[in-house]
Amino acid sequence: MSTFLLDGKTIPFTEGQTIMDAALAAGEYIPHLCHNPEFTPHGSCRVCVVNINGRFASACTQPAVDGMEIDNSSRQVNDYRKSLLQMLFVEGNHVCPGCEKSGACQLQAVAYYVGMLSPRFTHFFPRRDVDASHPDIAIDFNRCILCELCVRASRDVDGKNIFAVNGRGIKAHLVVDTPSGKLGDSAITAQDKAVQVCPVGAILPKNRGYDAPIGQRLYDRFPVSVVGDAAANGNNKK
Ligand code: FES
Repeated sequence: MSTFLLDGKTIPFTEGQTIMDAALAAGEYIPHLCHNPEFTPHGSCRVCVVNINGRFASACTQPAVDGMEIDNSSRQVNDYRKSLLQMLFVEGNHVCPGCEKSGACQLQAVAYYVGMLSPRFTHFFPRRDVDASHPDIAIDFNRCILCELCVRASRDVDGKNIFAVNGRGIKAHLVVDTPSGKLGDSAITAQDKAVQVCPVGAILPKNRGYDAPIGQRLYDRFPVSVVGDAAANGNNKK
């Protein structure tokens, strides 16, 4: 059996598993946002960064290798993750107290986990639209973190290719692939995986807002390190 050390704990793995796969299978949490065990790794958010034998790499894309020694919890690694989260918070408009996803949002939960107390950087305050054209689903582009989970879910599970990311760098943004660019003109339904998999409050089913009171939602009750991904374990709205 091949193994590596994660913060001194022996983690077994099988050929082809990533560090993230093996760690999650062993019950060890590595913070992540764009990773969801149901989808192929994307490696874009970098929140899962770990230090492997002195070199930084993303745990969700790095194949496990026998004998690796991995730092998943030092102050240096935590500070790196915290900076990435602080950048995400200022790049969009994440107004947690007014967001119905508060308490079930993975971005918020991971920020709590790393001990983020302030955004630190200057807010961009972008002006982005809200698309409420669909009868059952709304998109608030202000909250999108470009994890592309909806893109992957719509393409690979729903078979609809409704979402895409256009532009690069600071200009990258999520788009709805219809002639009007509106969700209401697409074939998406509230049951689609693309709707259920959003880790933040960007894609929301309508008519269910605040169904679980603040204080009783998943991450209000348990830290993300204990319960993991809300979307992956079927608790995306609780
Ligand atoms: Fe690994 Fe996003 S979770 S890069």
